[in-house]
Amino acid sequence: MDEVARDSISAWGEKAALGNLAPPRNLDMTRADWHEQINGPLDAVLAINLVHVAPWEVTLGLLRGAGELLVQGGKLYLYGPYRVDGVHTAKSNIKFERWLKDQNESWGVRDMGEVERAAEPCGFLMTEAVEMPANNFSLIFRKA
Ligand SMILES: C[S@@+](CC[C@H](N)C(=O)[O-])C[C@H]1O[C@@H](n2cnc3c(N)ncnc32)[C@H](O)[C@@H]1O
Repeated sequence: MDEVARDSISAWGEKAALGNLAPPRNLDMTRADWHEQINGPLDAVLAINLVHVAPWEVTLGLLRGAGELLVQGGKLYLYGPYRVDGVHTAKSNIKFERWLKDQNESWGVRDMGEVERAAEPCGFLMTEAVEMPANNFSLIFRKA
C-alpha cells in the first residue's frame, strides 16, 4: 500500500474532474473489518493486478470483504496472470513469477482454480475466464 500511488490517483482524479470519483482510500484487506470502511452495498468490485502482487491472505480478504459488500448478482472482476491447473500459461509468466518472488516471497502467480475454490464460500460463482493480451485473464465472479 503506497501513499505515492494514492497521491497520483488523486492528482489524475482532479485533472479528470469527473465529479463521481471518490478519493482513494487506504484499505488493508488482511484486516477482517476492511469492508466496514466502505459504504455498501456495491454493484461491482474490481481488483486489477492485485492478486499476484500481494500475499495470498490479501486475496482471501478481498473475496471475504467483496462477498459482504456486493449486492446479489453483483460482479467481482479480477485481472491479472493466472496458472491453469497449476501450470503457467506462458514462459514469460514463469520469468515474471521469479521477479515477483524476488520482490516478495509471498507474492506469486496464483492458480485460477484455487481462486475459484476460495471464492465459493464467500458466495461467488466464477462465470467467465476471458483470455486477455500479454497472457493475462479477466476473471468474472457473480455473487449468488
Ligand atoms: C501492482 S499494484 C496494482 C495497482 C493498480 N491496481 C494497477 O493495476 O496499476 C498492487 C496493489 O496491491 C495493493 N495491495 C497490496 N497489499 C494490500 C493489502 N493488504 N490490502 C489492500 N491492497 C493491497 C497495493 O496497494 C497496490 O495498489
